[in-house]
Amino acid sequence: MEKRERLSSRIGFILMSVGCAVGLGNVWRFPYITGKYGGAAFVLIYLAFLVILGLPIMVMEFSVGRASQRSAAKSFHVLEPKGSKWHIASWLIMAGNYILMMFYTTVGGWMLIYVKKMLAGEFSDSAVNTGEVFNATLASPSAMVIGMLLVVILGTLVCSIGLQKGVERITKWMMALLFVILLVLCVRSVTLKGAGEGLSFYLVPDFSRIKEYGIGEVLYAAMGQAFFTLSLGIGAMAIFGSYVNKDRSLTGEALNICVLDTVVAFLAGLIIFPACFAFDVNPGEGPGLVFVTLPNIFQQMAGGRIWGTLFFVFMSFAALSTIIAVFQNIISFYEDLWGFGKKKAALVNGIVIAVLSIPCALGFNVWSEIRPLGIFDIQGFEDFIISNNILPIGSLIYLVFCTWKFGWGWKNFTEEADTGKGLKFPKWSRIYVSFLLPVIVLVIFVMGYIQTFGK
Ligand code: ALA
Repeated sequence: MEKRERLSSRIGFILMSVGCAVGLGNVWRFPYITGKYGGAAFVLIYLAFLVILGLPIMVMEFSVGRASQRSAAKSFHVLEPKGSKWHIASWLIMAGNYILMMFYTTVGGWMLIYVKKMLAGEFSDSAVNTGEVFNATLASPSAMVIGMLLVVILGTLVCSIGLQKGVERITKWMMALLFVILLVLCVRSVTLKGAGEGLSFYLVPDFSRIKEYGIGEVLYAAMGQAFFTLSLGIGAMAIFGSYVNKDRSLTGEALNICVLDTVVAFLAGLIIFPACFAFDVNPGEGPGLVFVTLPNIFQQMAGGRIWGTLFFVFMSFAALSTIIAVFQNIISFYEDLWGFGKKKAALVNGIVIAVLSIPCALGFNVWSEIRPLGIFDIQGFEDFIISNNILPIGSLIYLVFCTWKFGWGWKNFTEEADTGKGLKFPKWSRIYVSFLLPVIVLVIFVMGYIQTFGK
């Protein structure tokens, strides 16, 4: 067996995993889903899911990766009991990586487009209607396709030239700077006139709002967001497990990553919702929420054009670090399955992903009439397939595989997770993790379907 690539250090592993977790899910998807489902009560449920579902499943993915020393394409083959068929799951998990990329690249492109708009001072005049600017951006097929292609090309280049080490270093700074700018924006946003209403929307739970949507749909959305933000269920975290050594136990590492990811998302909410109420933007606006509210804040700040440019630059890096991580995962499938070299795998997949991303890029303009299942646009449909189907099912597979005897099993899993210094996976949680968690995921999944489509 060829010697496996290693991350240079523990901090490298944490940074790469955080880079994969922190991205559009935190700053773009979390606020708009929270806005759609009524604010604070949704946030509470989401936070609970991060702890009860996200954290243990992340430990499981890391453990499967580290024990098998393979990507999700081969990890089940290595660890499954002889004669069992767990490896079939790897196809679904691999497909999930592509489907995530199918819209992530387009939304990543929006960040780049907004860097340009900010730089050009398009929002400097306070008479500019930010909602109209966003809609006009989406309406331009060339802008959408070029933004998406730029993102794909950047991701492909980094992965094929093997710049990960460099990216690791740059990303560290970009993430730190993103964090600082989020703090600054937070201060600006919560001190806006009229911010109080937004803060209470975001922080004071009103469970009656949940009734409007139906508890099943809200739980389903919160679970999807928890898996999305942590990149769980598609082996994206598992791959980092396969690169790390056995010095540290995996529960502590997963906890660090979950906390960092949650802080970023939480800050994003603290910025967006006060601003929504201050500028009279509907929190249920949908995927454009961040792009409509934030330029309003920048208009109200001294040096807003610079702040705005920097914000979108850092966000572009956060999106790119996720894209590079998922690309890397996809490339490792090809290395593991067919022995492709890095360059060839990167090039082939760069082309495949660019082509697969076109429906989303055009779904906001020339193909906007296409309504999959009658209730989605193309981006919403792709998001639904991944966040509400593949991520929960993939997570459920890891969950059962790691805890049941006919899979890899509890003993093997906890031994691997607990190898090394640091926090151990709690033994008392065995019944809960093995039986209750799979039932929770399944029940929410079924209830979600019934409510989403039964309306
Ligand atoms: N976890 C990634 C994000 O939140 C997919 O953007």
